[in-house]
Amino acid sequence: MIIVLFGPPGAGKGTQANILAKHFDIPNFSTGDMFRAAIAAGTPVGRQVKAVIEAGDLVSDDLVNQLVFERINQVDCAKGVILDGYPRTVAQAEELDKWLENHHLHLDVIFEFQVDEQELVTRRAGRLYAPISKRVYHVDNNPPKVAGKCDETGETLVQRDDDNPEVVKHRLDVYREQTSPVIAFYKAQNRHLAIDGMTPIDDVFQTILNALPQAD
Ligand code: AP5
Repeated sequence: MIIVLFGPPGAGKGTQANILAKHFDIPNFSTGDMFRAAIAAGTPVGRQVKAVIEAGDLVSDDLVNQLVFERINQVDCAKGVILDGYPRTVAQAEELDKWLENHHLHLDVIFEFQVDEQELVTRRAGRLYAPISKRVYHVDNNPPKVAGKCDETGETLVQRDDDNPEVVKHRLDVYREQTSPVIAFYKAQNRHLAIDGMTPIDDVFQTILNALPQAD
C-alpha cells in the first residue's frame, strides 16, 4: 500500500499521515520532517538544504528522490508507506513511477487535499509542531491535552520557522507554480482523487479510508 498525500502548505497532509500511519501500522514519511530533522542535527544534508527550506523554495529533485528511494527501500516499508509532501514536482512524480516499476510496485492514486486559502492561513497561523515526535497540533482545531506540550512525548511545541507570513506566501506561490502541475500529471492517468480538506480532521480521515480499497 502506497498512500500519497498531496496539497498546499497547511492543508492537513501531515495530520492525516500521522493518523493513517497508526491506523495501518505502516511508516509515514514526510520529506519536510526529514529535512527539518537533518537541519536540526546539522548533517551534511541539513546544511545543504537549510537556506532553501528557510526561503520556502523546493529542494532539488535529485536530492529529494535519492532520499525518498533510500527510505522506501527499507524493510519497514515492505507492507506499505505513506508519502507526505512527495512527489512535489512532475519530475519527482516521473522518477517515482520509474522507481516503483523497477521494484514491481505501482501507485494507484494520490489524494489531493482541497482547502480554501483563508483556511490555510488560519491553520498555519495556529499550528504547533513537535520536533521530536513530528506530531502536529493547532491551538484551536486540534489542541494538545496540556497547553504547549506534545501528548506523546511531553516535549515543548514550537512554531515552524517557515510558517512566518512572508515565507508562507512564497511557499504558496511555489505550490501554484511548481507543485500543482503534478495534479494534471496524475489526472491525465486517472490516478488523482480530490479530498475535501475543509471538513474536520476525523471526517477527512474517514473520507480517505472509504476511498482506499484496503479500508476496514
Ligand atoms: P513540508 O513540511 O512538507 O510542508 P508543506 O507541504 O508546505 O506542508 P505543511 O507541513 O506546511 O502542511 P500540511 O499539509 O502537512 O498541514 P498540517 O497537517 O501540518 O515541506 C517543508 C519544506 O520542505 C518545503 O517548503 C520544501 O522546501 C521542502 N520539501 C519538502 N518536500 C519536498 C519535495 N518533495 N521536494 C522539494 N522540496 C521539498 O496541518 C496544518 C494545521 O492545520 C495544523 O495546525 C493542524 O492541526 C490543522 N489541521 C489539519 N487538518 C485539519 C482539519 N481537517 N481541520 C482543521 N484543522 C486542521
